[in-house]
Amino acid sequence: MTTNAQFRLAARPVGMPQPSDWQYTEEPVPAVGEGQFLVKVTYLSLDPAMRGWMNASRSYLPPVEIGAVMRAGGVGEVVESRHPGFAVGDSVHGLFGVQTHVISDGTGVFKIDTSLAPAPVFLSTLGSTGFTAYFGLLDIGKPQPGQTVVVSAAAGAVGSITGQIAKIKGCKAIGIAGGPDKCRFLVDELGFDAAIDYKAGDVRKQLRELAPDGVDVYFDNVGGEILDDVLACIARGARVVISGAVSQYNATTPMRGPSNYMQLLVQRASMTGFLVFDYAKRYPEAAAELAGWLREGRLTSREHVVEGGIEKFPEALLSLFDGANTGKLVLAL
Ligand SMILES: NC(=O)c1ccc[n+]([C@@H]2O[C@H](COP(=O)([O-])OP(=O)(O)OC[C@H]3O[C@@H](n4cnc5c(N)ncnc54)[C@H](OP(=O)(O)O)[C@@H]3O)[C@@H](O)[C@H]2O)c1
Repeated sequence: MTTNAQFRLAARPVGMPQPSDWQYTEEPVPAVGEGQFLVKVTYLSLDPAMRGWMNASRSYLPPVEIGAVMRAGGVGEVVESRHPGFAVGDSVHGLFGVQTHVISDGTGVFKIDTSLAPAPVFLSTLGSTGFTAYFGLLDIGKPQPGQTVVVSAAAGAVGSITGQIAKIKGCKAIGIAGGPDKCRFLVDELGFDAAIDYKAGDVRKQLRELAPDGVDVYFDNVGGEILDDVLACIARGARVVISGAVSQYNATTPMRGPSNYMQLLVQRASMTGFLVFDYAKRYPEAAAELAGWLREGRLTSREHVVEGGIEKFPEALLSLFDGANTGKLVLAL
């Protein structure tokens, strides 16, 4: 008998998630029915958005119910099948949840070709992380060659790809990240033009020096004070892309909005929120272009793989909020 190990939401967190917000459960995997298949999950995607899904508030997806298996994307392998479209040995991607096994009828599950790249890359550059960078930057940010693109959480999953795409498109890429190691990584390994360590000093002052003609595109992953700093430096006609606001996801006081927003008027600029899911029909286009750049060596995909199995999930998720990850955080099961 195969056992399925899971993490379920036990309580809605206040501030940073605590161990008591989770319930670890084990249950036998039921028999695979006609038209179904069994997936052994091998890697889970850990995303800042998961913190929002734990809240009861209105969002773009319904909240995870108390007692339900935590929502998470993952990749895995088909180990049993009574489904005509999925065979034993197929590698697959889906919203499998924080669990080791899942029975599926194929809804929302896609085959992945792990001869192209290792499985974790399909949670990273060749998955929704890469698609977020691709559509957010190109469709909303609309960078033109020679323009200055700034990205925050730049050494993280989405940010590291966004800055590299900006370079591919002929822009000047400036990353904002926490700590000297991450800043070195951005410039030395990913080819950013410059990096600002927001933990070390005055972001606004450094940005004025690095972008004397102003910031044309700001891809914002963090919100909060850094958003205000960049708004103070935008160029005429700038596009501010609201990808997320990770600095605010664990706030116990009302979320901090931008106090500098009148700069949008002064500079005739725009600030636009977007969700990668709205681009689902165009994922193949992004996947093909990102895979091409990877193949040509123009794009580096960095995954931060946490070993130790599903038991590590509560602790690993917190890495996103203390900046312990460089690149895409995934948990190996
Ligand atoms: N709109 C969409 O469709 C979409 C889709 C996916 C992701 N996103 C958003 O994209 C953003 C990045 O997600 P990701 O998956 O790529 O995560 P990530 O950047 O790999 O990880 C989060 C990073 O945020 C930084 N951070 C954490 N707390 C911070 C704070 N208080 N101030 C400044 N930086 C902080 C940390 O890096 P440092 O060490 O540099 O602080 C950390 O490594 C998130 O806001 C997420 O919600 C949006």
